[in-house]
Amino acid sequence: MSAGGGRFGLDWPGKWEAGLEASLPESCSLELVPERSIRPDQAPHLFLEGDNLHILRLLKKEYAGAIGTIYIDPPYNTGTTMRYFDRFSRRGGSSGLAGGDTGSRRDDSPWLSFLYPRLILARELLREDGALFVSIDDRSIHHLRYLLDEIFGPDNHAGTVVWRKKVVRGRGHRHIIPQTEYVVVYARSLRSLPSFSEPLSPEMIDEYRLSDERGPYKRIPLAKTGTAHSPRPNLVYPIEAPDGTLISCPTHQWRWSKETLMARKSELEFVKNRMGKWVVYTRQRLYPDGSLRRKTPVSFYDRVSTSDGTREFRTLCQGALFDFPKPSRLIKDLLGWVPLPVDSQEPLIVLDFFAGTCPTAQAVLELNQSDNGHRKFIMVQDTPAEGQTDIAALGHKRIQSVLSALKKQNTGQNHHGFDNLAYRTMRLSGP
Ligand SMILES: C[S@@+](CC[C@H](N)C(=O)[O-])C[C@H]1O[C@@H](n2cnc3c(N)ncnc32)[C@H](O)[C@@H]1O
Repeated sequence: MSAGGGRFGLDWPGKWEAGLEASLPESCSLELVPERSIRPDQAPHLFLEGDNLHILRLLKKEYAGAIGTIYIDPPYNTGTTMRYFDRFSRRGGSSGLAGGDTGSRRDDSPWLSFLYPRLILARELLREDGALFVSIDDRSIHHLRYLLDEIFGPDNHAGTVVWRKKVVRGRGHRHIIPQTEYVVVYARSLRSLPSFSEPLSPEMIDEYRLSDERGPYKRIPLAKTGTAHSPRPNLVYPIEAPDGTLISCPTHQWRWSKETLMARKSELEFVKNRMGKWVVYTRQRLYPDGSLRRKTPVSFYDRVSTSDGTREFRTLCQGALFDFPKPSRLIKDLLGWVPLPVDSQEPLIVLDFFAGTCPTAQAVLELNQSDNGHRKFIMVQDTPAEGQTDIAALGHKRIQSVLSALKKQNTGQNHHGFDNLAYRTMRLSGP
């Protein structure tokens, strides 16, 4: 970090050259891989094989400002395992990109130089109302936040989810056993990003036990709770009870002004408590505008763990090995927060350019199946260097397992010509 020249931000050797990588012209192209595609002609989904820097530059030509959601799980900076970024910097050419020897025990420069141009391109691909979700661990979250603050602007940080990825104790840590990691979320423009929401839990739905002619509801006290620094005078007034007595606000203020109260009188409920005192409630509807109420997600997530991800991957891709695949449920829940376009026929493009075994593709396919959405995935996964595992092949294996499961559930064919079960694979070919 430097404050040189009064500018606050993260600096490292090779940053300038790395930033330039984002704007270099791209001379590679993509070629169809028919044997790894299903009905490629009409396929809404894309699987792109090759180095994501080249592919992101290519995507920019067609998809600048067009991607709705990006989820990525970049290789974590272990400080020692430089497999991916070493390979990139050797291949990508520009000398000094790896940052050189900074003299520190752990050199973060190669990782930063690797991510920097890719995140710049990610932002350029996003729609004005789009968002980027990045999985990251405790060792790199501070660096990632600085990078994203610089590229997206600090005001566009939508929040950070703490994922409890492990419930068991681990070995090899003398001080603090890491059980959590993060998903950092940035909007291209926070003001334009629609509100996130998710379904209520069954226990929450159970709370809507009362019912009237407008359907199920639950009572919420009209008196506002929580600490008040300065109560608003227009929210403090007496309310007339059904028996004509006046009820004064039992807390610092009501939630509604007098005007709102008059306009929404039918939503009020007066109940006498055990002491015989009137309590004023409002009716919170389970179906406020015809569809089931949803809630705003919170920053703590513990619905699935890493071992669920491993178990799921083993079931779908029998015999295959991959370290810590993400559970698709995690990504499905995150992607589900983003509302579909108002016009349900309009596609929402979901990009993952560190696709690995493709839990993001699984999440998109299954979400579409469950809500008839028209999300289109774009997976990007590198091709293997000699002697390395073909991780893209694992992704295809997962996708094909998911597709055959979906096919069994129903025709799989979404309406209006959207063929959720078709995808096209293209491979990067060099100049
Ligand atoms: C942490 S893993 C992602 C795992 C994935 N979320 C899953 O659950 O299977 C990062 C992935 O990015 C891929 N990768 C690394 N560098 C890449 C590059 N330059 N271009 C494309 N893919 C790359 C790696 O091969 C690896 O599969």
